[in-house]
Amino acid sequence: IIPLDFSSVGSLPDSHAWLQSDDEDYRHRFSFNGGSCSGYDGAGLSIPVIDLLDPNATELIGLACENWGAFQLRNHGISRNLIEEVELEAKHLFALPTEQKVKALRSPGGATGYGRARISPFFPKYMWHEGFTIMGSPSGDAKKIWPNGSARFCDLMEEYQKQMKVLAEQLTHIIFKFLNISEEEKINWVGSTNSTGAVQLNSYPCCPEPKRAMGLAPHTDTSLLTIVHQSQTTGLQIFKEGLGWVPVHPHPSALVVNIGDLFHIISNARFPCVLHRVTVNRTHQRYSVAYFYGPPVDYVVSPIPATVLNKSVARFRSVTVKEYIGIKAKNLGGALALISA
Ligand code: SIN
Ligand code: FE2
Repeated sequence: IIPLDFSSVGSLPDSHAWLQSDDEDYRHRFSFNGGSCSGYDGAGLSIPVIDLLDPNATELIGLACENWGAFQLRNHGISRNLIEEVELEAKHLFALPTEQKVKALRSPGGATGYGRARISPFFPKYMWHEGFTIMGSPSGDAKKIWPNGSARFCDLMEEYQKQMKVLAEQLTHIIFKFLNISEEEKINWVGSTNSTGAVQLNSYPCCPEPKRAMGLAPHTDTSLLTIVHQSQTTGLQIFKEGLGWVPVHPHPSALVVNIGDLFHIISNARFPCVLHRVTVNRTHQRYSVAYFYGPPVDYVVSPIPATVLNKSVARFRSVTVKEYIGIKAKNLGGALALISA
């Protein structure tokens, strides 16, 4: 379960070599068809960049959720300084020697710690990736890595989670407004105050054979929505029917927001489920910081009646978040077809 010591490898080990033909299999697993898997013919088309201060932000965000399930967000209210400091801390963490990082190795099923991508068990090959997951305060694990100097890391990560939560709540509010769901009704669908959040720091080291490697394999997020900061290196791609894998190029002042499985279910599939992956390259190490926002695990998720009305029939049955996570784990990441009504 220990990630590869990427700093010491000169060629791609077989354990990390992916077949091109795998791509189609994975898309089928998630019930995605169409589009070319090798090329992208979208002529520069990608997810919209939206200014949160735009008077039409609600409409623009809602339409982006319908058309793409994702958008880039500018003027999001999170200070540039905080984001840069978090990115710097991630760089410091991943630059440590492997012996140091594995002191905080995430236990199987554990919440916080260093390790492989959480989706690794769904795939036969390993990814060109290492991660550090944070749920709540990371202090215990950070102390294992830096016995004498973990306070700054912990303070920054806690502040980041706090601010991300506020933004995620604001976005959820905007999206429900777009769906014509009142604040009182909204509580039935996402709960009131005790929503949960987790931060995932990601590193994609330089790769000797990027075409045969995978940074992060195709997956959908088990969140309500996910907010991602990416360093200035291209790699994130979103699958869009008819277009194929669409690159999401880093925008210096924007965060990437994508719909997760839970919003897909709640919206009765009005918002697409966003299949995405990350590619790697030979010369630039890439970093990202993902914030996953969702209701508590005992929460029951089901399609909103108003949306059901529009589509005339509920596409999904009710599930608790916990039950959904279990179904997803058992079915290698492809769970939505199994909860269709
Ligand atoms: C992810 O959370 O799927 C990865 C995001 C990224 O590295 O851009
Ligand atoms: Fe993801």
